[in-house]
Amino acid sequence: MFQEVLAAHADRVEACLTGLLDEQDDTQLTRAMRYAVLSGGKRLRAFLVLEGAHLYGVRPQQADRVAAAVECIHAYSLVHDDLPAMDDDDLRRGKPTLHVKWDEATAILAGDALQTLAFEILASPRSAADPTIRLRLISSLAEAAGARGMVEGQMQDIAAETATTPLTLEQITTLQANKTGKLFTWSATAGPVMGGSNTDLMQAYAQAIGLAFQIADDILDVEGDASKAGKRLQKDSQAGKATFVSLLGVDGARRKAAELVEQACDCLEPFGGTGDNLRHLARFIIDRDM
Ligand code: IPE
Ligand code: IPE
Ligand code: MG
Ligand code: MG
Ligand code: MG
Repeated sequence: MFQEVLAAHADRVEACLTGLLDEQDDTQLTRAMRYAVLSGGKRLRAFLVLEGAHLYGVRPQQADRVAAAVECIHAYSLVHDDLPAMDDDDLRRGKPTLHVKWDEATAILAGDALQTLAFEILASPRSAADPTIRLRLISSLAEAAGARGMVEGQMQDIAAETATTPLTLEQITTLQANKTGKLFTWSATAGPVMGGSNTDLMQAYAQAIGLAFQIADDILDVEGDASKAGKRLQKDSQAGKATFVSLLGVDGARRKAAELVEQACDCLEPFGGTGDNLRHLARFIIDRDM
């Protein structure tokens, strides 16, 4: 049942992304962008935008574009994450990574162009009629994705590979909140922002599932099945990377993730049954094998 909802939300955002990319000229760059953003993925960030928008009474057509924008940022982050200078991966979403299919320059540039496309999408009045809301979405996404968010988390993650002393639990929590948590939080709060409402509840929910998500990613890296995950695994230990699993062990990490999911579900209490899809999402995030 939840899988059906997830698939339906993914279809919506993919239709929107396809329309947005069809507006671009057909070039090697746009073919690479299309490949990066339209070849699979669970669309969890899009799901958060669509569900948050639903909770706060935002029109679905508007939410689709905002969901597409965050998926562009996420796809760019994966393309760059897989580059030889970063994780040097050849498989993503079950397909060759972009730099393997084309070349490194194309991968760097397609990532760059996906990033700017995200902001171009948000800047259109079709994403939010009120310019103040558009500006809030744009500036908060810039913050979540940049030097105080995802990019800084990626930097901290790379630095952790060569750190002389292993990271503490606190440092790993900060790293992961930056690397993954902030884009999750942006996605979940986009609904209340578009609806002109307070973002506190969705923020608390997303911080908890964002961390649980990254713990699950680290567990998958240790004991997942690459054919299901669609990416190479056992990369973190090979790189000597400090993760929740290296610090807490698999069982400890699993317990921590389960606690976070309970915490996330508590935040949804005020929404009653309307929050059910988000409750299912929280559980899916730690139970998934992909
Ligand atoms: C993978 O993210 C990268 C991390 C942030 C750990 P997802 O697991 O959400 O990737 P897709 O979009 O489903 O491929
Ligand atoms: C990637 O983290 C996070 C971002 C792209 C922001 P990982 O390097 O752990 O992701 P996977 O495991 O390659 O998907
Ligand atoms: Mg990485
Ligand atoms: Mg990686
Ligand atoms: Mg990983």
